[in-house]
Amino acid sequence: MSRLLVTGGAGFIGSNFVRHVLAHTDHDVIVLDKLTYAGNRDSLAGLPDDRLRFVQGDIGDEALVDGLFEQVDAVIHYAAESHNDNSLHDPRPFLDTNIIGTYVLLEAARRHETRFHHISTDEVYGDLELEDPSRFTESTPYNPSSPYSSTKASSDLLVRAWVRSFGIQATISNCSNNYGPYQHVEKFIPRQITNVLRGIRPKLYGSGENVRDWIHADDHSSAVLTILEKGRIGETYLIGADGEKNNKDVVEMILETMGQPRDAYDLVTDRAGHDLRYAIDSQRLRSELGWRPRFGDFAEGLAATIDWYRMNEQWWAPSKDATEAFYAAKGQ
Ligand code: NAD
Ligand code: DAU
Repeated sequence: MSRLLVTGGAGFIGSNFVRHVLAHTDHDVIVLDKLTYAGNRDSLAGLPDDRLRFVQGDIGDEALVDGLFEQVDAVIHYAAESHNDNSLHDPRPFLDTNIIGTYVLLEAARRHETRFHHISTDEVYGDLELEDPSRFTESTPYNPSSPYSSTKASSDLLVRAWVRSFGIQATISNCSNNYGPYQHVEKFIPRQITNVLRGIRPKLYGSGENVRDWIHADDHSSAVLTILEKGRIGETYLIGADGEKNNKDVVEMILETMGQPRDAYDLVTDRAGHDLRYAIDSQRLRSELGWRPRFGDFAEGLAATIDWYRMNEQWWAPSKDATEAFYAAKGQ
């Protein structure tokens, strides 16, 4: 492999992946990104022009996609509408990008016989009870709850069908909740950090007891690269770093790290259909492909993320007011 096409490479996880690839491999990268409200050209600032080309466009644009597939050896597909709260407000863009957009890419992969890696989420499996000791595995039945997760589940099933019916060279990964630099302020951790930086109290949905399984975005990137290099075609790999925490604990850690009282947060209106708990068993990825996470200590990764938002206000400030206005209108 020498040239990779990264869809959604100006988003949170895609831009972290591009940085990881340029730092740790010899591959060149083409980014295809529509620059929706969630995409930011500045997330790719400072990267070398001779190894990175940026193309603004829609993954649903067949002609554009076809021309780009001609120029690359592999495609890593991150582009998506990614926020559950938005999907409850206006599901349509989620169907267009996550389902139809993925279909357009799969057809191009079929025509060009291109190696294809599909990025997905643990949310396709639905949720677990808080006290249930079990975790998601590759054989957990699909049971998505939200418009977002149901469109991601649909896209996974399309990939599986294109592998079986047309023999495309594809793999899938389903990862747990990512944190780290360049994450949009609509998401939980950056929203609370930037709230504290602005003197606003953090907002916890419901009782704050919902559990998410946190992984640093750079560990997600190293896992994807491992699957791209060593994964078995047609296979699904779950990616997780044993990072289960409830939302209240995370907010208290943020407040404490930022020198605020641990209880200086508000409980607000819960998310409709709010998944209780996600938990990933990543044994297949670890034992078959030898992957290990590097950011073992969540408190350390969180402190570094807080520092990043403190130092990069010019990156997040332009989105902050509109994001908070959206939440305020819903009592969140
Ligand atoms: P994000 O919202 O930060 O970024 C999405 C990017 O896709 C943006 O740059 C946006 O401009 C681009 N995009 C959207 N629609 C497009 C289209 N039609 N054509 C081209 N580009 C388009 O999302 P993220 O959090 O970085 O998530 C990236 C991927 O990882 C998604 O597929 C998501 O489902 C998956 N994922 C996310 C997490 C998480 O914790 N954030 C966890 C597991 C999996
Ligand atoms: O599990 C992987 C998924 O993680 C990805 O597929 C999604 O793209 C990504 O957005 C994320 O989904 P979540 O819905 O879990 O993430 P979010 O950051 O929106 O919320 C995390 C938890 O925090 C969730 O339980 C809702 C809660 N929350 C969120 C916000 C924005 C709050 O309590 N307060 C908030 O202000």
